Amino acid sequence: MEECLQTNGLSEERVKKAKRMKIFISFAAGMAGLLFGLDIGVISGALPFITTHFELTSRLQEWVVSTMMLGAALGAISTGWISFKLGRKKSLMAGAALFVIGSIGSAMAPNVACLLISRVMLGFAVGIASYVAPLYLSEMAEKEDRGKLISMYQMMVTIGILAAFVSDTIFSYGGHWRLMLGVISVPALLLMFSVFGLPDSPRWLASKGKFAKAKEVLCSLSSSDEKAEAELSEINESLLVKQEGWGLFKANKNVRRAVYLGMLLQAMQQFTGMNVILYYAPQIFKHAGFANTEQQMIATVICGLTNTLATLIAMKTVDKQGRKPILKIGFAGIAAGTFLLGACLYMIGAGYSAMWISVVAVLMTLLTITSFAMSAGPVVWILCSEIQPLKSRDFGVACSTTTNWIVNMIIGATFLTLINAFGIAVTFWIYTALNLLFIVLTFLLIPETKGISLEKIEKNLMDGKRLRDIGVN
Ligand code: BGC
Repeated sequence: MEECLQTNGLSEERVKKAKRMKIFISFAAGMAGLLFGLDIGVISGALPFITTHFELTSRLQEWVVSTMMLGAALGAISTGWISFKLGRKKSLMAGAALFVIGSIGSAMAPNVACLLISRVMLGFAVGIASYVAPLYLSEMAEKEDRGKLISMYQMMVTIGILAAFVSDTIFSYGGHWRLMLGVISVPALLLMFSVFGLPDSPRWLASKGKFAKAKEVLCSLSSSDEKAEAELSEINESLLVKQEGWGLFKANKNVRRAVYLGMLLQAMQQFTGMNVILYYAPQIFKHAGFANTEQQMIATVICGLTNTLATLIAMKTVDKQGRKPILKIGFAGIAAGTFLLGACLYMIGAGYSAMWISVVAVLMTLLTITSFAMSAGPVVWILCSEIQPLKSRDFGVACSTTTNWIVNMIIGATFLTLINAFGIAVTFWIYTALNLLFIVLTFLLIPETKGISLEKIEKNLMDGKRLRDIGVN
């Protein structure tokens, strides 16, 4: 409070200070996104070496990949409670500490059991980060730059995946899988130290009755006291709406519809098969005829770069063209990409080894990644935060985020089994069929929420409008 008054009047200095604070907050929360991406991306390059080192069966390889998702699902589901009790800042700190322990633990694992336990810990950290960091950012940002901050967080996830691919490539020359996993502890430590310097979110402070402290934080972020006052009174107003997630879910059919829609959206995002491409990229390229590790790794880095660049397309188009058209184009692109990739792999399996088949297989992998990154990747996260009514938003987002990780785990845990049972071509065609189904579901169930207020979406939902119409003005 005192600081607030002291800085009043020195407006230029104050604007600069607020700006610096925002950059620092974006950096710290962005680091959480980066770690999320690093942990998703690192395993594809490390897995072949881990498999050789521990002589893993297909089943154990699936477990090495999917135990992280199990941890993330547990992390996401318990974070609602942890971040309510401890606050966003302390939760992020706990997440950062787990990131450090998990990455050092997996890098030094003397046996498969230790590796799996470390992967669950890492996953728990990722689950915390994927829930708390966007929530923290949305609570810290002023209205005008909320969207930008959350998009930037998404961008950091893809940069993390790319960075993991690059570092995997570098360490692959000596087969250093322990270094691939261990190097992640460096950004994890950086996250831990930067979180120390973060203020707690004013919304959380106010919800705990610490109004003076909440105001102090708001003052440090705002260019004027008036803005800070206005923000605080909005926070106080919104606190009048008590979070009643589970109770409302049981009592109100419309709340249930929103929660189920969020879970469906996240399940659709994962069943596109995008993560299969990311986790098992080296194997896919091997099937496509890229024989040596170096060739496979370089191709994988190209995948990461495509993912990052295509996310930029989404950031530019999602508010102009709208969510639904982008989703339909994205699912159609993934369906085409996985179908033709499957066809190429089928031909390779049948003994045709022409260079053009390998080239087409790589191009189709890139088409699949581009289609996902410009559509379902960001759009699903955006929609999930838009469709939940205010009173049950935390509960709704926790349910959809947990669904994301559970389905992610199912995909990781079944991919090699599917390949062994049906062959790699048919496995990709299963994803083709699912993506075609998602185009139909988008027509039937998904609302267009471009340019409409969250209050209007909520009103439409509560009035019992069809789900696909809750975004109609
Ligand atoms: C998804 C992740 C995926 C990432 C790829 C995110 O939106 O939730 O599962 O790995 O995009 O960029």
